[in-house]
Amino acid sequence: MSTPDVVVVGGGAIGLSIAWRSRQRGLEVAVVDERFGHGASWAAGGMLAPVAEVHYGEKAVLELNLESSRRYPRFAEELAAASGRDVGYRQSGTLIVAPDGDDFAALSDLFAFQQRLGLDVRKLKPSEARAIEPALAPSIRGAFFVEGDHHVDNRLLVGALEAACRRSGARLIEGVVAEVTTSAERATGVRLEGGTAIDAGSVVLAAGSWSGRIAGIPERARPPIRPVKGQLLYLKGSEGAPLVTRSVRGLDVYIVPRTDGRIAVGATVEEKDFDDTITADAVYTLLRDAYELVPGLRELELLELVVGFRPGSPDNAPLLGSSALEGLVIASGHYRNGILLTPVTADEIAHLLATGETSETIAPFTPTRFAAASMEAV
Ligand code: GLY
Repeated sequence: MSTPDVVVVGGGAIGLSIAWRSRQRGLEVAVVDERFGHGASWAAGGMLAPVAEVHYGEKAVLELNLESSRRYPRFAEELAAASGRDVGYRQSGTLIVAPDGDDFAALSDLFAFQQRLGLDVRKLKPSEARAIEPALAPSIRGAFFVEGDHHVDNRLLVGALEAACRRSGARLIEGVVAEVTTSAERATGVRLEGGTAIDAGSVVLAAGSWSGRIAGIPERARPPIRPVKGQLLYLKGSEGAPLVTRSVRGLDVYIVPRTDGRIAVGATVEEKDFDDTITADAVYTLLRDAYELVPGLRELELLELVVGFRPGSPDNAPLLGSSALEGLVIASGHYRNGILLTPVTADEIAHLLATGETSETIAPFTPTRFAAASMEAV
């Protein structure tokens, strides 16, 4: 095998999209994963909700999320053309719904915050919300509509990325990366379990929650990433007569329709390292909270329970760009926004790999920010 310009560690939405965009820029690319597209990208909800999921104190992440959301229509269109597949991107907005007075008070505070940030959110009466989503519970206390927050079928997306990578000539290598190899203080490639070495001009670390645990990376360049467990379930709805046609979310639950009629209900947020147990309490809590918003979900068949690990960083912002080890680029730590941040991450990391320049868009998210003694939150 000739030496590629880039070897990407991790074949989820982030790694595959970087590989695809890098191929479009003429780079030779190899991607390594044990099972492509079956990590956090498989377990994700597919919400593209920078406004509905805005968090207090995370302004820089909000800007990046909004930028990626703006890039989604073109990204989805180009990917569909490159892969020959529908990626299940639907621009139908998101309803934030309060089932009772307590949640309405909390969501009204969030609405005030969203308004202060100049975000596009509209307050609806219960009757107005039910007019656009008739399956909402008659008892809901109030709702807010975010016209610009959409959703994508993350499994279709990652399948399309894999197809686009193969069509574009990226080499997809099934294997487990045992270590990043180095020589004279720079990354030179990876070695797989079993011993195969892949030398490359640059190594991109896009291994999600596992990014901090790969051997061979010196401490100064190791990303401080931890797994944040999420449990999610799928219900079988009707393709012809969907119960809901847009994302519906409450304070602690979201309900996302798929184009084939399935409905994703997610997700827990748990600091449990890599514990992949599906718990009765998580299933109970998710369904209880979802029924309060859309009671008709009770009638649906339970299809699947799934666990994923969001790659969390100390400031909840991603790590994007060159690391403290020459030749090692990091694209990880996307936490709750991996699917949303796929377009902007792919564009900007491919730009860095092709030109050596870090764009202004990702400069605030430099992985080296954690090396400084006085770390400032992004
Ligand atoms: N962004 C949804 C989640 O992390 O569950």
